[in-house]
Amino acid sequence: AGGALLSVAALAPVLASCSREAEVPVTDAGSPLPIPPLLEPDADGRFALTAGRGTTEFLPDVATDTWGYNGQTYLGPTIRMQRGRPIEAVITNDTDEETTVHWHGMLVPAHADGGPHDPIQPGETRTVAFTPDQPAATLWYHPHPHEATAQQVRRGLAGMLILDDADGHTPGTVSGDSVPSAAEAPSPSAEVLAALPHGYGVDDLPVVIQDMRITEDGELLGHNFNSEVGLLGRTVVTNGVVGAVHTTDRRVLRLRLLNGSQARSYGLRLDSGAPLTVIGSDGGLLPEPVEVESISLSPAERAEVLVEVPDEGVTLMSSEPDLGNVADYEAVGGEDEFTILRLEHAGGGGADGSGGSVSADDSTGPASIADLGLPAQLAALPAPTDGGQERQMTLRGRQINGRSMDMGRIDLVSSSHQPEVWQVSNLDSSPHNFHIHNVQFRILDISGDPPPPEMAGWKDTIYTPPQRDVRIAVAFPAHEDDHSQLPYMYHCHLMLHEDDGMMGHFTVDVTEQEALDALQGTGHE
Ligand code: C2O
Ligand code: CU
Repeated sequence: AGGALLSVAALAPVLASCSREAEVPVTDAGSPLPIPPLLEPDADGRFALTAGRGTTEFLPDVATDTWGYNGQTYLGPTIRMQRGRPIEAVITNDTDEETTVHWHGMLVPAHADGGPHDPIQPGETRTVAFTPDQPAATLWYHPHPHEATAQQVRRGLAGMLILDDADGHTPGTVSGDSVPSAAEAPSPSAEVLAALPHGYGVDDLPVVIQDMRITEDGELLGHNFNSEVGLLGRTVVTNGVVGAVHTTDRRVLRLRLLNGSQARSYGLRLDSGAPLTVIGSDGGLLPEPVEVESISLSPAERAEVLVEVPDEGVTLMSSEPDLGNVADYEAVGGEDEFTILRLEHAGGGGADGSGGSVSADDSTGPASIADLGLPAQLAALPAPTDGGQERQMTLRGRQINGRSMDMGRIDLVSSSHQPEVWQVSNLDSSPHNFHIHNVQFRILDISGDPPPPEMAGWKDTIYTPPQRDVRIAVAFPAHEDDHSQLPYMYHCHLMLHEDDGMMGHFTVDVTEQEALDALQGTGHE
């Protein structure tokens, strides 16, 4: 494809003929970072989640049709669940298209996975129940309707899901060579959970990063012409606003970063050059904090980082994601630079110099990351098992192993607790990534090299660089209560690729025939 892919400048004449793409203004003051409300299950474990439509003003005085959950016109509340406590989600579809709710990163029985065979029709309400059982982590939820995930997420259907562990669930000991399912992994100790910032919206912030293309009329565009990876927008919204600013009286913040974009990867860093202290990956905390200059997140990946907020403030920005050896870095958005989140210190910048005093006052928390007093070990992480059933997944074009998604085909059959090693090979010269449902896995190596420490923890989505093989250790949990016998999915999480069929079906402890029969029952065979 060479350098033929379009930059925004190149695109302008094309757009002028229909509706012009807008330059979204960032005001000097910025926009306060919206903190989505927390949605927690009631005493019976129940909560309601309703997908609906609304309008949002991304451009001044221009309404954009958007979707959201629970009355939000864009995105949804942050759901917080506890490990080991059963939940019942009462999901209502108030949109005019079929939808589902998929709990991305959660180990769930197939009947609760929110896959495409199980759509909730407009006007319908569905109750799904499961018991979260895996280490505390930053997960998310989004729709997964057949061939329509990209457009529903793009309109705003997505939210963060924080899994906590109020009951300190620490099953047995996980020794170096024991079963590597995340369902058996202990949660972090109470000491660690208490030492880390955990005041939601105060020193523990959800940060959902998305790019969009929006016209001057406020219409959200779905594609870039000629883009191999899907939508690459010049407008980046953080928790749904352009130019997000958060003013805090805290010196140390925990940011839960989610790349909720369609196709864009971000290289996240601080403009001050100070390091990001990475404490968690997709599926939970790392064994110890890792300082990095920059962390790359491809679509659907998460990272938890600690940052210090100096008097003069600091800005989280994105530039130069580490995409590996892509043939055309510019064409996949690699050269684009964005402001993601400006962090201002409430006491900073004062002309009288009083802002410089470091508060020892408990109400504004520790003065530095060192002052958090974190124990040496954040989480116990079992060594991944390098062995077991081997699987090969080749990514090329919009296919996996030379096949497109078939709603009536089962691509592989797995069993719980049987270790597997999947080799995921990107044969293209442009990016893909790879996500597996119902599991947290571990990277063994990337074309022979061990993963960097910030990628060595629990993962459910990985970036797959062009012409590289990523080997991962996979072990699925058992779900005794799953009677649906429906399959799960693995897929590229570049949403256009996913909707175009870059996806396969697998089962856990269910035979191919049982799963085919179950699919037939849904009318989606
Ligand atoms: Cu984030 Cu199959 O999904
Ligand atoms: Cu892909």
